[in-house]
Amino acid sequence: MTAYLQALRMINFRNYADETVLLSPGLNVVVGENALGKTNLLEAISFALTGSTPRTPKENEVVRWDQDFCRTEARVALEDGGRKVAVGYAPGQKKRPTVDGVPATSLTNYAAGGAGVRVINFFPDDLRIVKGAPADRREFLDALISALRPAYARAAADYARAVQQRNQLLRRIRDGFSSERTLATWDRKVVELGETVLKGRVAAVERLEPFLADSLGALYGPEKAALRYSYSAPLETYAEALREARGADIERGTTSVGPHRDNFEVSLGGVDLTTYGSQGQQRLATLALKFAARDYVRWATGEDPILLFDDVMSELDEQRREYLADYFLQSVQAVISTTNPEYFRPEVLQRSRVIRISGGPVTVSTMAGARG
Ligand SMILES: Nc1ncnc2c1ncn2[C@@H]1O[C@H](COP(=O)(O)OP(=O)(O)O)[C@@H](O)[C@H]1O
Ligand SMILES: [Mg+2]
Repeated sequence: MTAYLQALRMINFRNYADETVLLSPGLNVVVGENALGKTNLLEAISFALTGSTPRTPKENEVVRWDQDFCRTEARVALEDGGRKVAVGYAPGQKKRPTVDGVPATSLTNYAAGGAGVRVINFFPDDLRIVKGAPADRREFLDALISALRPAYARAAADYARAVQQRNQLLRRIRDGFSSERTLATWDRKVVELGETVLKGRVAAVERLEPFLADSLGALYGPEKAALRYSYSAPLETYAEALREARGADIERGTTSVGPHRDNFEVSLGGVDLTTYGSQGQQRLATLALKFAARDYVRWATGEDPILLFDDVMSELDEQRREYLADYFLQSVQAVISTTNPEYFRPEVLQRSRVIRISGGPVTVSTMAGARG
């Protein structure tokens, strides 16, 4: 048995004033009517274990209305005992995650497994990964690699900053306030960081592809799924391409070459799903990417991440629901929200912990399943 989440306390988190939820290894099904806090609970788990929310870039939204801070506390079961982790957050102030009462060295390190366990989320908005813009795909990839390698997270953040600064410089050169010679120093920095990002992404895509092919094969059918990283410039010619683009970059005031312009394509039977996939294919491919991410984390760390899947069952047919239920049961821990517990067979529910969220003042009651 590897690491899993035993208990979560949410203070001023979204609609929760102060609630504690106990969880079991294996499948946890979060049941409740709409707008009662199912998604918020899954979000809180993610927040507790990574130090940030995957749901929105406007993080202050997670703080309960009329409050000025929130806090999550989690007890994580590990092979050699347990770990207590907490994240306190007051908008405008630095977050301070702690592990067994000791401040984590950094939020980046905390997010990369500092809590003792990683998470793979699926929120309905994640359909963007296949359906949306290249930026949505890059974000997925960067988040996945960052959860495994804090050095990558730092390089990616530094790279984004360096490109911003280069863009400012380009505009100053264009407007006659700086000379073109000053670009050389920035370009060296941009290329150095950009190469780290490129290498990390290309390696991850290579590793993810067979996992994706397996999971999409199981979810969809025999057509072969593929992932292809598409470069604005490949590693070998990156520095050269950036240099060659200088003139045009100065004119436009933006950096046209580098990993911030890259993409990866998800295809099925040779057809690009972003452009040509049906809604159903895009949905299954997104799910399959999340499963592939699970396999990738397992391969890289030897540990299962916790699966946090929000409201996935309703959009699937019965056969795929059964497949998913099996998949969740075979995971070290999965927390799945649904309005309708009947999406799971009674035998499955018997082996699960059902967490009921009911109306009125929010109360969370847990009924331990057979494994509880
Ligand atoms: N920061 C917040 N403070 C208080 N309530 C919030 C906050 N953010 C969202 N909510 C409330 O949480 C509820 C939605 O919870 P959610 O978890 O999305 O429900 P569901 O069970 O449908 O997934 C809404 O009623 C919303 O008003
Ligand atoms: Mg919801």
